[in-house]
Amino acid sequence: IYILVVTPEKIQEAKEVYREHFQDDVFNETGWTYILEKYNGHLPIEIKAVPEGSVIPRGNVLFTVESTDPECYWLTNWVETILVQTWYPVTVATNSREQKKILAKYLLETSGNLERLEYKLHDFGYRGVSSQETAGIGASAHLVNFKGTDTVAGIGVIKKYYGTKDPVPGFSVPAAEHSTITAWGKDHEKDAFEHIIKQFPNVPVSIVSDSYDIYNACEKIWGEDLRSLIESRSADAPLVVRPDSGNPLDTVLKVLEILGKKFIPKENSKGYKVLPPYIRVIQGDGVDINTLQEIVEGMKQHRWSIENIAFGSGGALLQKLTRDLLNCSFKCSYVVTNGLGVNVFKDPVADPNKRSKKGRLSLHRRQNGDYVTLEEGKGDLEEYGVDLLHTVFQNGKIVKTYTFDEVRDNAKLKESELEELH
Ligand SMILES: *[C@@H]1O[C@H](CO)[C@@H](O)[C@H](O)[C@H]1NC(C)=O
Ligand SMILES: *[C@@H]1O[C@H](CO)[C@@H](O)[C@H](O)[C@H]1NC(C)=O
Repeated sequence: IYILVVTPEKIQEAKEVYREHFQDDVFNETGWTYILEKYNGHLPIEIKAVPEGSVIPRGNVLFTVESTDPECYWLTNWVETILVQTWYPVTVATNSREQKKILAKYLLETSGNLERLEYKLHDFGYRGVSSQETAGIGASAHLVNFKGTDTVAGIGVIKKYYGTKDPVPGFSVPAAEHSTITAWGKDHEKDAFEHIIKQFPNVPVSIVSDSYDIYNACEKIWGEDLRSLIESRSADAPLVVRPDSGNPLDTVLKVLEILGKKFIPKENSKGYKVLPPYIRVIQGDGVDINTLQEIVEGMKQHRWSIENIAFGSGGALLQKLTRDLLNCSFKCSYVVTNGLGVNVFKDPVADPNKRSKKGRLSLHRRQNGDYVTLEEGKGDLEEYGVDLLHTVFQNGKIVKTYTFDEVRDNAKLKESELEELH
């Protein structure tokens, strides 16, 4: 989107801003005018990248950028900042996929199958992100692994830049929020609940139930006053009770215990308790990768199947992440001076972790399936097989794109990962 074509107006604008900003004429007007005249404003660089959605262990090369015109040797670093921003969707997708692994493990252990796994972690992050653009990018990264989202901005991004075979890549259900309960007044929570479930008899409906007292709501309102209305709902249209406060693990366990006294659970083939199909729970408060692990482990210990629950995650899913989590960076590794190629790298004395890779880089797969980054142009040797980095951008043109279905397919949980869970 951003590696746009250079125009005379843009060059003039940049020249003026940079002159003021640096109080000096450091902007290379000659260089940019050269690109404008020789390439019609298209950037003479080549970007190679690993197929989108690939699951690559950290520390490997994910993309390379080379200048294709020796005159424009300086251009590669001009795209550094904007390309390193890919840390964000990479990190959101990685973190979301790790949560999918946790959910898969516990779902399998407590139910024997992976049904509805893709709907177990719903994106609640729209309001917690820094911008509309962040919402779109972050939500689309989560949708690589899951299908539940309330951050609809992600749907637009995916449709515009990727495309899917399905009309939309993510789904949601009607849901109450606090105002749609509290606007009825404190004495009318039951009426609010009743009104909403009657409005949506044939689809799942999520109702936030902690406006005043979640435990009273579960026991008295859902469990007694409205019990018969809930019992008449089908498995395709459950009432989904949503607590939204308190310690997440304790609250989930207590809500399940109270609901389990009113709506008698069955034991599944793995020996875990499952509430009747017309009632489920969604925990969407305080959910991050650590609390998620604690809640599913706590449920397992109390013999509750993960079939009973779905999770919502907001700030932790889309915003509480930084570039330092996976240490994404972009460094110069190779220069050609007077026709002579030189491998370059950094290796700061105070942090060996910050050593950068040397020379021309390529990504390969060993016989055993492990990924390896080859440095110093070694990947050119035939014995290492093909480079997994493909040219995606060449001299101003995008030459390779992926559909969202391909991205999802690349990122899906592998057989080997699922076997490890057994
Ligand atoms: C400016 O760009 C021109 C043309 O690409 C290049 O030859 C020159 O070395 C650049 N100057 C600086 C200071 O980067
Ligand atoms: C990122 O770098 C820091 C500082 O070098 C290091 O402590 C940390 O372990 C690295 N993170 C990962 C995931 O390797």
